[in-house]
Amino acid sequence: MTFHSRNPEETHSWAIRLAKKLKPGDILCLYGNLGSGKTTFVKGLAEGLKIKPNSVSSPTFVLMNAYDGRLALYHFDFYRIEHQEEIVGIGYDEFLFGKGVAVVEWAERFGKYLPPERLDLHFDYVGETGRTIRVAAIGERYERLIKEL
Ligand SMILES: Nc1ncnc2c1ncn2[C@@H]1O[C@H](COP(=O)(O)OP(=O)(O)OP(=O)(O)O)[C@@H](O)[C@H]1O
Ligand SMILES: [Mg+2]
Repeated sequence: MTFHSRNPEETHSWAIRLAKKLKPGDILCLYGNLGSGKTTFVKGLAEGLKIKPNSVSSPTFVLMNAYDGRLALYHFDFYRIEHQEEIVGIGYDEFLFGKGVAVVEWAERFGKYLPPERLDLHFDYVGETGRTIRVAAIGERYERLIKEL
């Protein structure tokens, strides 16, 4: 499935809509270049989960930020990961397989720790303010989720 976004607001509102369908333990893996809209998407997710506006920033130095909303949101950003072992070091599995929703920017850096079942979202540029978001479900739970979108 592919979502075509014409501007940041569309990415944001699409993420709000997706957030309403999320359940505890859901994992969203985000891929795409710098500035392709991953954090913009996460801010929409946060709003959809009723997390206090403007609390979301990129977890540049800490790898993960946790927010409280309808569900907890664990926001990971692996851009600065150099060794996969750092992922294990922050106890990622406790968050990924817990009661909240996990969203991971630069999920390709998971390497061998990439969760086996997940929703993959690939962000691509289409001009200055156009983006495509290609969505792929890995596992039954996520196939059902995609059908609801
Ligand atoms: N359709 C669009 N969807 C999302 N962002 C867009 C769109 N068009 C333009 N933008 C702009 O592109 C930028 C996206 O930045 P954002 O921080 O979301 O990217 P990112 O993928 O998280 O980058 P990074 O890898 O550096 O974390 C913002 O400045 C946003 O306003
Ligand atoms: Mg980002």
